[in-house]
Amino acid sequence: MSERIYVGADHAGFQLKQTLVAELQRLGYEPVDVGPAALDPADDFPDYAKPVADAVSRGVAQRGVLTCGTGLGMAYAANRYPRVRAAVAWSPEIAQLARKHNDANILVLPSRFVSEREGLAILHTWLDTQFEGGRHQRRVEKIDQ
Ligand code: RB5
Repeated sequence: MSERIYVGADHAGFQLKQTLVAELQRLGYEPVDVGPAALDPADDFPDYAKPVADAVSRGVAQRGVLTCGTGLGMAYAANRYPRVRAAVAWSPEIAQLARKHNDANILVLPSRFVSEREGLAILHTWLDTQFEGGRHQRRVEKIDQ
């Protein structure tokens, strides 16, 4: 069975989200697009961060992807949910470390600071990198204690 990955954006991240959803489909994942379905320049990032973070927090999905202009608003909103570790990544190296050391279960892309090509490279790295565990396990567990 293919992995379900929740995806959301605001207006600033809308175009990149469309690309990411198509790429996840192409790779054989099952993206669940929480929206927006169309570009709405007046929409608000928490309305899309919350359903993605809620799904990951409750274990409905193991992973999620969010994008807004800086990535910061999405990360603020998502990280309020227990067991959510939302990482803003602006390079494949950051995405790799966010997985290896921080077990990031939500990838947040800053759409105004990465090209579409960079966004895809960051997505691929994040999808394909495993958590290292070991000393990082204890640290990650302490977040929710
Ligand atoms: C929207 O203009 C912008 O503020 C938003 O996408 C995001 O960058 C907020 O953190």
